[in-house]
Amino acid sequence: RGPEPFTPTGRPEGVPQEALAQGGAYLTTALGTRLPDSDHSLKAGPRGPVLLRDHHLREKITHFDHERIPERVVHARGAAAHGIFRSYGTATTVTKAAFLAEGAETPVFVRFSTVLGSRGSADTVRDTRGFATKFYTSEGVFDLVGNNIPVFFIQDAIKFPDIIHAGKPHPDREIPQAQSAHDTFWDFVSLHTEATHHTLWNMSDRGIPRSFRTMEGFGVHTFRLVDAAGATTLVKFHWKPKAGVHSLVWEEAQLINGMDPDFHRRDLADAIEAGAFPQWELGIQAFPDTPEQMFEGIDLLDPTKIVPEELAPVQPIGLLTLNANPSNFFAETEQVAFHVGHLVPGIDVTDDPLLAGRLFSYLDTQITRLGGPNFTQLPINRSHAVVNDMLRDGMHQTAVHSGAAPYKPNSLDGGCPFFAGQQEGGYVEVPVEVASAPRVREAPATFADHFSQPRLFWLSLSPVEREHVIAAYTFELGKVYEQAIKERTLQVLAEIDPVLCEQVAAGLGLPAPKAAEPLPSVTPSPALSQVGKAWPTT
Ligand code: HEM
Repeated sequence: RGPEPFTPTGRPEGVPQEALAQGGAYLTTALGTRLPDSDHSLKAGPRGPVLLRDHHLREKITHFDHERIPERVVHARGAAAHGIFRSYGTATTVTKAAFLAEGAETPVFVRFSTVLGSRGSADTVRDTRGFATKFYTSEGVFDLVGNNIPVFFIQDAIKFPDIIHAGKPHPDREIPQAQSAHDTFWDFVSLHTEATHHTLWNMSDRGIPRSFRTMEGFGVHTFRLVDAAGATTLVKFHWKPKAGVHSLVWEEAQLINGMDPDFHRRDLADAIEAGAFPQWELGIQAFPDTPEQMFEGIDLLDPTKIVPEELAPVQPIGLLTLNANPSNFFAETEQVAFHVGHLVPGIDVTDDPLLAGRLFSYLDTQITRLGGPNFTQLPINRSHAVVNDMLRDGMHQTAVHSGAAPYKPNSLDGGCPFFAGQQEGGYVEVPVEVASAPRVREAPATFADHFSQPRLFWLSLSPVEREHVIAAYTFELGKVYEQAIKERTLQVLAEIDPVLCEQVAAGLGLPAPKAAEPLPSVTPSPALSQVGKAWPTT
């Protein structure tokens, strides 16, 4: 064949991607030279020595030596699937996002994960689960990077390295792998009482899901939606599984971890292969965008708080169906790069201080994990919208950019030479007023209440669910060596509920402390205890 015409990506036109990665009747080198033998090194005689000039031996081994990339610093263990998101159009009253228009269908890629374990750890450990969704919309990529627990351990991203250092295995012995039953975890969460709410969810049945298919998902932070006229609404995102919320009991989780450490991964892949496509409804809780950004006394910028569904019902806005397994784990599940800063017109962020740190962290970590700044060109990360950026060069650049002037305005590449201002359309940040305030390193007073919502959650549980929580705290704290950490944690439990504290104390053989102050009176929330219940279908 003669020389191929090259596409802007540098690939020969008409040659399918698969043919470049793997295909054809015979084995070749990385650059297509046919190889008759890949089983024997080139030697001086059949008994050696092996010759350094063997280019095929060197290429094969060198490539193998570099097969691994760093695992994610958190959420390293994951499983993923492709799917489709169909919008009901019910969110058009609050957002102009094109993928939320009535009837819009958007391809998606969803990765589920545990947080603390490494890539090879077991699936059914007690941990938070990641629930990250990439929407390949016509206006660019939107990522909803959430968890299966609606609140987070900390209120400010500056503490994220600290909570993760405390939760990961101890730096001296590198144990335990993927569970919270150890001194540093309990030391941290008992010293930072803002972590009480998330920890209680972890100790409940939500910490050991039956399947990814039976988990809720939450965007956690409050986001700001913008409609076509520029009006704004604050929202929290929820994923509700059509199959209902189901968990394992502790004994099941332990047996499964031994017998099939890939249980969740296998369950997801098998269900999709069998045509039993898992589905979730996406819903929003909507709140007026007031200057205070509070709702019913709850600070919407505090990621350790929920808004009970009785106060703000979750309104369904679309349906997610996962219908295809990845064809290559590394290319897709491992190389996918989610980022809370991947936003589309109609969706903006709020000043939640945890979200602010995340907006920096994801791109930063992916530059190391994926070897430079060009991972947006990897097939799984590529936008389905037309890309016309002025980003150039760098490690692993695969685009062959045309033109001579990657800057604007310019008078060389056919662009308007006088254009210097803004164009209509596109992503415009909401011009939120920034308060004139002194620069401080402190949390607002509205972030101070750490116990009334954990109490709300505890009181919403059924008797058997409460038994599971008591057993979980007793087991996990039973693994802690330092007596002072156990005692401090019991004091935290006393601030939630006397029965919880007394029962765990009895299990540990320690005296039960009393709450420092009278416990707040709260009304249990039926929606908080969803275990075993299906989300009503629409
Ligand atoms: C990864 C969720 C807070 C840093 C992830 C993933 C999820 C997630 C689901 C896995 C994405 C995937 O499957 O590839 C959350 C949620 C948070 C939170 C819901 C709080 C509401 C934070 C904070 C930071 C952070 C505060 C740092 C300041 C990271 C990093 C990764 C990660 C560095 C690895 C990303 C990669 O290597 O691609 N997070 N996270 N996260 N998160 Fe978060």
